[in-house]
Amino acid sequence: MPVKQGKFITFEGPDGSGKTAQLDILADELIQDGYPILKTREPGGTAIGDQIRATLLDLKNTAMVDRTEALLYQAARSQLVEEIIRPHLAKGGIVLCDRYADSTLAYQGYGHRNTMESLQGIIHYATGGLIPDLTILLDLDPEVGLQRRLDAGGVNRLDSYDIHFHQRVRAGYLDLVQENPERWVIVDAGRPINQVQKELREILLQWLTSWGY
Ligand code: TYD
Repeated sequence: MPVKQGKFITFEGPDGSGKTAQLDILADELIQDGYPILKTREPGGTAIGDQIRATLLDLKNTAMVDRTEALLYQAARSQLVEEIIRPHLAKGGIVLCDRYADSTLAYQGYGHRNTMESLQGIIHYATGGLIPDLTILLDLDPEVGLQRRLDAGGVNRLDSYDIHFHQRVRAGYLDLVQENPERWVIVDAGRPINQVQKELREILLQWLTSWGY
């Protein structure tokens, strides 16, 4: 019998939405429950991608122009798709990815105002057309998100863009949901961590069951 193709689940949201911490807990629990989960993140997730990530997030790189930024995200992404994501999906596994192509549309598209058409083109080139089966948006007011990052002391080059940039990113995500509602679920990330965690787990278990896992 041929191995069934796996499922690709991505997590999106503004900076400070708690996505990464939530995803760590969620992935550990699902692995313990016996699901064939592989957790990864963007930008990064591979040795080459992590080097690109360091360049992208370095506060010293103030000279980086928009197109360089957009292309570096795609370079890291293509490596991750070929090296990690597609092989796991081919084995019938489940990939949980912290950010993916929708981050490019939200940040480089809505945030930096690059045209959607050009971004769609480079995303398609980088991913070979791989689209998530499910995307969870951890939605949060950008003011709250940035304050959380400042409190945690973890500000990077992208956090330092002004608040209007982050507001455009959030609005962008909400537009992307409207365009393809069947693939997205919105979770309110402004609530206490355990409430968000509980809801995320319920959503994932529901989708995994519906896919026959
Ligand atoms: P990171 O520290 O991983 O932030 P987070 O924990 O919020 O995911 O930094 C990733 C940054 O890169 C984040 O500000 C979003 C940005 N980004 C883009 O602008 N475009 C992209 O395509 C991706 C994947 C990330």
